Amino acid sequence: MTNAEAMPAKNDSYRNYTKVAEFYPLSLQSFSQSEQMFRQELGRLAPIGGPVLDIGSGTGRTVLAIAETLPVVEIIAVEPSTTMRAVLMHRVMQDRDLRQRVTIYSDPIHAVPLPEKLGAVVAYGVLGHFDRDERQHLWRRLIPKLEAGAPMFVELLPIGKPMDFEQKLVEGEQIGRRSYEAVYSGKAEQGDLMRIKARWRISGGGGPPCVIENTNFWHTFTLEELAQETGLRLQRLTPESGMLFS
Ligand SMILES: C[S@@+](CC[C@H](N)C(=O)[O-])C[C@H]1O[C@@H](n2cnc3c(N)ncnc32)[C@H](O)[C@@H]1O
Repeated sequence: MTNAEAMPAKNDSYRNYTKVAEFYPLSLQSFSQSEQMFRQELGRLAPIGGPVLDIGSGTGRTVLAIAETLPVVEIIAVEPSTTMRAVLMHRVMQDRDLRQRVTIYSDPIHAVPLPEKLGAVVAYGVLGHFDRDERQHLWRRLIPKLEAGAPMFVELLPIGKPMDFEQKLVEGEQIGRRSYEAVYSGKAEQGDLMRIKARWRISGGGGPPCVIENTNFWHTFTLEELAQETGLRLQRLTPESGMLFS
């Protein structure tokens, strides 16, 4: 257990990933277009100097995308959830090149030491875990470190205002003899906050079905609102992702 997990912090929604970390890579298929556009745009901007900071690296999707698109750049990966980070660590350890280029921090972003300059920032699927004050604190730390024109890639849930919804995100996904499905449902909470429930059902293979439910929280805002609060310009990549730059 890291220090970050032993002591409750204000922003500790990373703890809500514990129960569902093993399924996380299955849910990423719904976001394949924003990953593809991210790779394309990052490649277009190459070469990018300086370390690339990846906030909330999860199981490594964005770290791999950065490493494969920018073959020599140093990557700073920040992932405070032990279960998510275990997958990330495993992937990094499999590859000699990644072991040399990727530094993994286990604290939440506000507690991670940052280098003087950053070549780019990637924040995919994470900014909604921060309220406005936490985001403002983050921008005060990050923006002075970005060279003029250096990009910040962001991906949000495509929900600008709290709303109730229910959506089947994963259906009939087969791994060996077991089949996986996931239903996500959202409920509007106070202010800009949403409560998002994931219900995973795993069945088949002769065993009884297994249901795992998990709740997470997400502050809703749009990419345009993000551009306004950072003072950066926005280039939209997909409905849920974009690039911010000065
Ligand atoms: C939806 S996942 C996104 C993972 C990855 N970026 C991707 O796109 O596949 C969000 C991640 O942000 C992490 N996270 C939550 N709070 C955080 C914080 N305060 N600092 C850094 N990461 C955080 C969670 O642990 C989780 O792994």
